[in-house]
Parts: sequence; structure tokens; C-alpha cells
Amino acid sequence: MTSVGAGVRVIGSGAATAPQCLTNEDLSQMVDTSDEWIWTRTGIGQRQLCTEETSLAMLAAEAGRQALSAAQLDPQALDLIILATSTPDDLFGSAGQVQQLLGAERAVAFDLTAACSGFVFALTTAAQFIRTGAYRNILVIGADVLSRWVDWSDRSTCVLFGDGAGAVLLQASDETDNLLAFDLYTNGSLNSCLNLPYQGQPKTLIADKQVTQGNYQPISMNGREVYRFAVARVPEVIEKVLFQAQCQTSDIDWLILHQANQRIMDAVGERLKIPAERILSNLAHYGNTSAASIPLALDEAVRQGKIKPGDLLALSGFGAGLSWGAALLRWG
Ligand code: ACO
Repeated sequence: MTSVGAGVRVIGSGAATAPQCLTNEDLSQMVDTSDEWIWTRTGIGQRQLCTEETSLAMLAAEAGRQALSAAQLDPQALDLIILATSTPDDLFGSAGQVQQLLGAERAVAFDLTAACSGFVFALTTAAQFIRTGAYRNILVIGADVLSRWVDWSDRSTCVLFGDGAGAVLLQASDETDNLLAFDLYTNGSLNSCLNLPYQGQPKTLIADKQVTQGNYQPISMNGREVYRFAVARVPEVIEKVLFQAQCQTSDIDWLILHQANQRIMDAVGERLKIPAERILSNLAHYGNTSAASIPLALDEAVRQGKIKPGDLLALSGFGAGLSWGAALLRWG
């Protein structure tokens, strides 16, 4: 146990990408679409997809391993692993498999489900365990394999999604607290805009006892509603965290939004008057990787030397629930 009142520092990041590439051209052989339509409406050029050999847990563990290696931390030093995912290999949770793959025997591990907001929700959850003094080293992973649940014959959704994983390692600090502010929201009245719903058939057990058994249906989405929701709520929540931390938009070095659609990112940037060169975007290569998209973009920028110690990052996730949130984080 650490002393109560510890601050939060990020000491490493990592990512793992899925092995096979599906281009817009490939998609146009599957459904009635074109590279031009996908590119102009979404900013996506290709996406990386898992094969039969790559499980969600394997992808998540690889991202975690990279973060541990960047921080030069032994897996045995981990106290907690939070796996943000909506696509576990096992409905009981995949965090236990990740713990085992990493050899992090001391760590307690659990899944957290908040769709595309999952990484921001998991990061802020982890910070609470550090601030209360409960844990010292926490691995936060965002990982999703939405390709399992996309209807590959539905052109309105199948062009959007990809698979991937990203991670950050948080450590308690007695000197600093680099999570300057956060704010999280859910509006369940908009739940039907974006779903991956269970659908069961009645199954009679004995005369008057019945349950249902079934499966999950492919992703269904009201694209226009989700778009409207995102461009209204995301700038608002970012302004709220800036206000909490008494910062200005001009203080933000890097805006890292959930990579859903380039047009959403452009609209949010315009509303906040943040120039495009300070908004990280890699969805051209990966599509929408749900809970993985923010740490994937973050890790890429760290490894490219764009994000430097001391930089101020504004992170914002949004998606199913509908849910959304933002965190203001000083890097390093
Ligand atoms: N190729 C060609 N035509 C298409 C395609 C496609 N892949 N998909 C839809 N169309 C057609 C439609 O059928 C429609 O045709 P019609 O006018 O003849 O009816 C036309 O294109 C326009 O369709 P819209 O749905 O109105 O297109 P829009 O400009 O709204 O773009 C999009 C759709 C890209 C999905 C957009 O609404 C969007 O990005 N919304 C946000 C969705 C999102 O980001 N979701 C994920 C966030 S949450 C999470 O990450 C889980």
C-alpha cells in the first residue's frame, strides 16, 4: 500500500496492431462502396484485422508488454490491470488471461466495458486506485476486436471498424499529479443509437420455467445521431476539463480524440479552435478501433517523438451508452 494522497504519473505506453490489412479497395469487392466514398466521409483508408490465431487477450497483452518495456517495469511489480474492452474472448472477462500472458501474478485484473469511451473511463478508474493509496503500479489497456461483431454485408458500418490494442502504465508519485482533470458522462436515453445487442430465443426448461438462449447481433448504429452527439458533447466536455484545471485550449499540446471519423475530429478541432497539426489522427491506417483508438494514437505519437515529457494532452472518448468523457493529462 502507498500513502494516501499519491499523485498519478504515466511512465510508459505501448500498442499492438492486428496482422492483416483490409483496404477500402478490398471492401469495395465485398459491398457496394468505393475508396472515394469511405475516404471522403470518414478519412479511413485501411484497417488492421485479427486472424483466427490472434485473440483479444493476445493483442491486449502485447500492448501491455510494450508499455512495461517502455517503462522498464517488471510485470511482477503490477498491482492492477484494467482491460477496457467490449469484445472479450470470454464473456466472464479477458483480463485474467492478459494477467497470465504477462506473468503479472501479483496483479488483480478486471474488464471494464464502456465501448469507445472505455480507455478514458479505465484511465480515470485506475487513477482513483492510485489516489486512494490502494495501488502503486497500474496497467490500463484499451483493446477491441470489433471485426468479430461487424456485419460484413452492411456497408454503412463495415467500412468503419478495425482491431487493435493500446496501453499506458500509471504509477503513484509523491511529487506530482499529472492527471489534471477528468469528466465522464452517460446518456442512456440515446442507448439505441449504437448497439451490439444480445438476442435470445425462448427455451423452456420445464412446464412453467423459461429462459432465453442466443447470441449477440452485429453492431447497429444510427450514424447521423452519433455524429451529431459527438460534435456537440466532445468539445463541451473538453472545455469542462480545461475549466477544472484552469487551462486554456491554447495550453493543449496534443488533442487525442477517439478515432471514429476524421470529420468528427475536424469539427471538434474547429469548435475548440485547435489547429489540425495539434490533433493526432491515425484512423487512416486503423479505422475505428473502439477502446484501443486513443492509446494506439498516443503510443504512436510517443514513439515518433511528437509527444514529449511535460506536454499537455487532452484525451476524449465517446461512443456506445451513449457515453463520453475527457481527461487532461501532463505527459511523463
Ligand atoms: N458506401 C457508399 N455509400 C454508402 C455507404 C458506403 N460505405 N454507407 C452509406 N452509404 C450511403 C447511404 O446508403 C446513403 O445513401 P442514400 O442517400 O441513397 O440513402 C448515403 O450514403 C448517405 O448516408 P449517410 O448515413 O447519411 O452518410 P453520412 O454522411 O452520415 O456518413 C457515417 C455516414 C460515415 C457513418 C457518418 O454518419 C458518421 O461518421 N457518423 C458517426 C458514426 C461513428 O463515428 N460511429 C462510431 C462512433 S462510436 C464508436 O466508435 C463505436
